[in-house]
Amino acid sequence: MTATTKPAVVVKPPAAWAHPHLLQLRGHSPAELRTVLRLARDFGRVLDKDTAIGSLEELPTSDLPGRLASCRGKVVANLFFEDSTRTRVSFSVAARRLGAEVIDLTSVGSSVSKGETVGDTAANIAAMGVDAIVVRHRSSGSAHLIARTLDGDAAVSSLPGASARTLPGARGHRCTVINAGDGRHEHPTQGLLDILTLAESFGRLDAFDLSGLTFAIVGDIASSRVARSDIAGMTALGARVICVGPPALAPQHLTSLGCEVSHDLDAVLPSLDAINVLRIQFERHEVKQPASTTENAPKAASSNVIASVREYSELFGINARRVANMRPNAIIMHPGPINRGVELTADVADSQRSMVLRQVTHGVAVRMAVLQLCLAAR
Ligand code: CP
Repeated sequence: MTATTKPAVVVKPPAAWAHPHLLQLRGHSPAELRTVLRLARDFGRVLDKDTAIGSLEELPTSDLPGRLASCRGKVVANLFFEDSTRTRVSFSVAARRLGAEVIDLTSVGSSVSKGETVGDTAANIAAMGVDAIVVRHRSSGSAHLIARTLDGDAAVSSLPGASARTLPGARGHRCTVINAGDGRHEHPTQGLLDILTLAESFGRLDAFDLSGLTFAIVGDIASSRVARSDIAGMTALGARVICVGPPALAPQHLTSLGCEVSHDLDAVLPSLDAINVLRIQFERHEVKQPASTTENAPKAASSNVIASVREYSELFGINARRVANMRPNAIIMHPGPINRGVELTADVADSQRSMVLRQVTHGVAVRMAVLQLCLAAR
């Protein structure tokens, strides 16, 4: 490729990012969030041009942050102890686009099935010289626990969870830990890609100032790590955030996170710029499913949180009638996986307003930025 045909790639050196791990969005300053988002925006522009991977590798090293020009030669381990389609594949694509090698580990087929703790598993992976661990686990705080296990208290002294211990062999090699979703706590890269999608839709990609925008999260907020990351990130950047759902799914105490709470979707719809629709996470409701339970609707019959799926859909489902009450330029988001016909009708999920696949595209750029910055900060 000649100099004249090369894509105009400009990845500006970001402001300081001093964190080797990304465990949550809450507590990060607006400046730090903007650092990640600006780098993700720039990576996204490269990806949107359908630029060959080789072109990414040609990015001028002097323009990239820290001591790492890319992740070439680095090894990223995906430790997914819960199911995932988008996040796991997205981290793999992101790491590979930065030149890293990727290892995939799940509880099935690993020694976790023999009773090994997640901390021991992570310590053993890190002891092999792996550079980054991307972890998803059903327990809130598991990513923090792994970071503390690998680093000791010093690196994450303000974090909740069990007291730190450092396993022999885990020191001397700093391994990045990235939270890919821990229980009901946070899913920070999902929060970042949601912000990137909102900012793009409303022309806020330069300053990432979301003031004046109203963002609603609708559905099972009580069970949602996505909601907690969205609330933390969006409010830090100036957005008004409203959590909407029945009281059991959108409890009043969520206001302590800096958002508002409403139980009347139709009342708030006309004021919204964006709506993020969440799946009802029956698997996190504390009722065992009957043996006859099938994949979708019958689960609700055994939930002590939702009286019936049909009633939920009537009161809080997003359908064409409700979309007609939204602002003309309002957008609809969903982190996936979608239960079509429950929280979102198929026609709305596939409509022009739907940003669902754009969110997924942004996920790669966000994860490239997070990997780049955290690895550079080790
Ligand atoms: N949004 C999200 O976390 O999707 P996956 O569960 O498929 O990773």
